[in-house]
Amino acid sequence: MFDANLKVWHNGKIISWNDATLHIASHVVHYGSSIFEGIRAYAMPDGPAIFRLQDHLERFYTSAKIYGMEIPFSQDDIRKGCFELLRENHQKSAYIRPVAFRGLGKLGIDPTSCPVDVSILTWNWGAYLGEDTLKDGADVCISSWRRMAPDTFPAMAKAGGHYTNAQLIKTEAKMNGYHEGIALDVMGFVSEGPGMNVFVVYQDTLLTPPLSAAVLPGIRRDSILKLAEKLRIPTRVENLSREIFYAAKEAFLTGTAAEITPIRSVDRKPVGDGKPGPITRKLQNTFSDILHGKTPDSWGWLEKATSLEEALA
Ligand SMILES: Cc1ncc(COP(=O)(O)O)c(C=O)c1O
Repeated sequence: MFDANLKVWHNGKIISWNDATLHIASHVVHYGSSIFEGIRAYAMPDGPAIFRLQDHLERFYTSAKIYGMEIPFSQDDIRKGCFELLRENHQKSAYIRPVAFRGLGKLGIDPTSCPVDVSILTWNWGAYLGEDTLKDGADVCISSWRRMAPDTFPAMAKAGGHYTNAQLIKTEAKMNGYHEGIALDVMGFVSEGPGMNVFVVYQDTLLTPPLSAAVLPGIRRDSILKLAEKLRIPTRVENLSREIFYAAKEAFLTGTAAEITPIRSVDRKPVGDGKPGPITRKLQNTFSDILHGKTPDSWGWLEKATSLEEALA
C-alpha cells in the first residue's frame, strides 16, 4: 500500500515520506480532531484526471466549517497540491487523501489553541473489499452498532473521530466472517456502511436512504443518482427498513474506495438470486466507461490540471 519513496504534501511543501511525522502530543492523536477526504484520480491519455475534485474540496471545507476549523489554505491551493503530488509521485492514477488536523498546542479538549495542519497523501489503492467482490459481490451483515443520532455527531462532516464508530462496524463484521457491515440509524432505518453508501433495487426502482438517516453525502452516491436518472432507472431517496435487503432483487455499496461493489448477501440471506443483478451491472459498466474515457463524461466529472502551473507544479 505505502512506499517510503512516496512524497507527501504538507502545509504547502512537498516533503519526503519519512519526514511526514507529527508530535505525539498533537491534539488529533488524543481527540480525533481531523477532517479528511478520499478522492480518486484515473489515468487518461493526457495525464491523470481527478474525479469530482471540486465537489470533494467543497465537502472538505464543509466538514471543516462544521467543526469550526479554519483551513489555512485556499481550495485552489489544495487543488494544486493534489495535482502537484500526483506528479511528484509519478502516479497516473491514485487514491488521494487530503487531511486537516489539529496539531501541537494546548492538550485539552478545547481544540482552538491548536494549529490546523494540512497534508495530502497519494497511494495506489485497489478494490477496497477485494477484486472478487467487485465481480461476484460482497457478503454483508446488519451491524449491531448504530450510526450516530443527529444531535451527537454531525454525519455530514467527514471527520476522523467519526471513524471510531466505523471501526466498530467494520471489525464486528470481519470477526463474524462478513466482508462488510451496514449500520442502521438511531431510528432503526438503514443508514450506510463504515465507508460507503448503500443502494437497493426493489420492484425495479433504485432506492437509497436520505441524508437524514445519518448518511455521509457521498459523491459516488450523488453520481449514481445522476447516472440512474440519465439511464431512466426509476429512483427514490427514502427511509428503508432492514428487511428491504431480504426483499430486494439487487443491492450495492458505493464509495470512492469501494467504487460500486455489488452485495450478494445480507445476514447470510442471498440478495435476489445471490448474483449481481442487471441494474447494478449496468451502473457499474457505465460508470467504469466514463472513468476510463470510453463514454463521454457529459457532467465534466473528470477534472484535469487546468493550468500549466498545476500540470507542472
Ligand atoms: C462514512 C462514509 N459514507 C459514505 C462514503 C462514500 O462517500 P464518497 O462516495 O464520497 O466516497 C464514505 C467515503 O468517503 C464514508 O466514509
